[in-house]
Amino acid sequence: MAKQEDQFKKVLSHAKEYGYVFQSSEIYDGLSAVYDYAQNGVELKKNIRDYWWKAMVQMHDNIVGIDAAILMHPTTWKASGHVDAFNDPLIDNKDSKKRYRADVLVEDFREKINQKIQKDIEKAQKRFGDAFNEEEFRATNQNVIRRQKQIDEISAELARVQEENDLAGFKQLIVDLGIGCPASGSKNWTEVKQFNLMFGTQIGASAENATQVYLRPETAQGIFVNFLNVQKTGRMKIPFGIAQTGKAFRNEIVARQFIFRMREFEQMEMQFFVKPGTQKEWYTTWKETRLKWHLSLGMGSENYRFHDHDKLAHYADAAADIEFNFPFGFKELEGIHSRTDFDLKAHEEFSGKKLQYFDHEENKSYVPYVVETSIGLDRMFLAVFSNSLQEEELENGTTRTVLKLPAVLAPFKAAVFPLVKKDGLPEVAKKIIEDLKWDFNVFYDEKDAVGKRYRRQDAAGTPFCITVDHDSLEDNSVTIRHRDTMDQKRVKISDLRDIIKAEVDVKTWLKKMEA
Ligand code: GAP
Repeated sequence: MAKQEDQFKKVLSHAKEYGYVFQSSEIYDGLSAVYDYAQNGVELKKNIRDYWWKAMVQMHDNIVGIDAAILMHPTTWKASGHVDAFNDPLIDNKDSKKRYRADVLVEDFREKINQKIQKDIEKAQKRFGDAFNEEEFRATNQNVIRRQKQIDEISAELARVQEENDLAGFKQLIVDLGIGCPASGSKNWTEVKQFNLMFGTQIGASAENATQVYLRPETAQGIFVNFLNVQKTGRMKIPFGIAQTGKAFRNEIVARQFIFRMREFEQMEMQFFVKPGTQKEWYTTWKETRLKWHLSLGMGSENYRFHDHDKLAHYADAAADIEFNFPFGFKELEGIHSRTDFDLKAHEEFSGKKLQYFDHEENKSYVPYVVETSIGLDRMFLAVFSNSLQEEELENGTTRTVLKLPAVLAPFKAAVFPLVKKDGLPEVAKKIIEDLKWDFNVFYDEKDAVGKRYRRQDAAGTPFCITVDHDSLEDNSVTIRHRDTMDQKRVKISDLRDIIKAEVDVKTWLKKMEA
């Protein structure tokens, strides 16, 4: 646990030191759970967004994109159920005065038990080596059986109190489990209350005429209300999808874990409209497709797992999370939801407008069912960034900090250095920059010894360093160094573009989804 916390602290300080993420309004001591993306962060974020957009929109001839407004007619949120049901159960500790999400307290408690199981498994694995059989161990080891039973009982009770909105039962669960305040250890809790997460604001010049509106808590509703416009103008045939990326806002109670849980964040969502009755198949297809997208980035299949929901949201008939192994354990990265026809039907009802599709093959109209894929861009950023940050022991006994970002996502693809700041070397280096910048983000650096410049680029995540030396003036060649292997090769300046492209090209990476 302490190791995990250390790693997380490193992630936070590295993100700041290397110009990835800053606390918002830092000179005023920041605004809780709101962050700014800095010069490198904005590039990484854009590259993740583009990677998603290419995979979802460009690679599917039946998916189109839109960019709906953040502010929407307030009835949207009545219809979607957010005004009445977009709540989190909160609980206060009377001694520490700290506020928590009741479900998160229980989930964290359950995760600790799970980690004990994992430890037992790891120990046994070491002891028995190749002969170890995890399934058998889980079925026979008394400690594991007892702990798994406890996890199952907690999960069942958590699902029940959430399902039945049993707030007294929720508090009792926390008391029964002996959960203390994470900050103070105190078990002196208030009752559990529901808290609406939407940020409200007002439209209108004067207080009397002002209309209450909301900052959207999800981008999805902008897609639902445009469903028929897009279907008609794009002459889309079911099944088809509408994708969107954009800001969403939630007044989160538990504002912690850096950019994992923010009050202002960005979502990348796609609603896939299907014939009623086919939603289960599409739900399975999209679960598989989205996992392949994640795996294509090469961050280790062991770092992902599915979590099927015990408690379904008011709109869903099936839902799963893709969880990622963050520095603080496995947590939700993306949701895949079979949303039924709930949203379109609700908008029909509240707007009085038909939102139906005429199916020529069936010769009838119906309200389509929807399978949604929804991923937080900031959360994906954290997954990529934290997974890439590594300390490496080198052969000469020193260590290096390296940010092994998937090359396709790296903010800068190459850095170009003149070996010295004279003898015409800067001019050659700048000429290389002039040529490469049409294709890639490239960085020029002439300060400090080359070894130091390499280390700076390793830590910033740049996949290639290119050094111009005196021989370059004669042979039009340079040394190219690879961030991950640290291998160096002498190559022709005229070959640089192709060498870099081979490693950073989106096509090469997305093709891995087909493997
Ligand atoms: N339209 C469905 C929807 O919004 P969700 O599970 O509430 O579903 C989808 O959110 C994704 O948005 C999550 O998997 C997560 O990646 C991201 N997300 C949700 N709340 C967030 C927050 N407060 N900060 C950062 N990302 C968040």
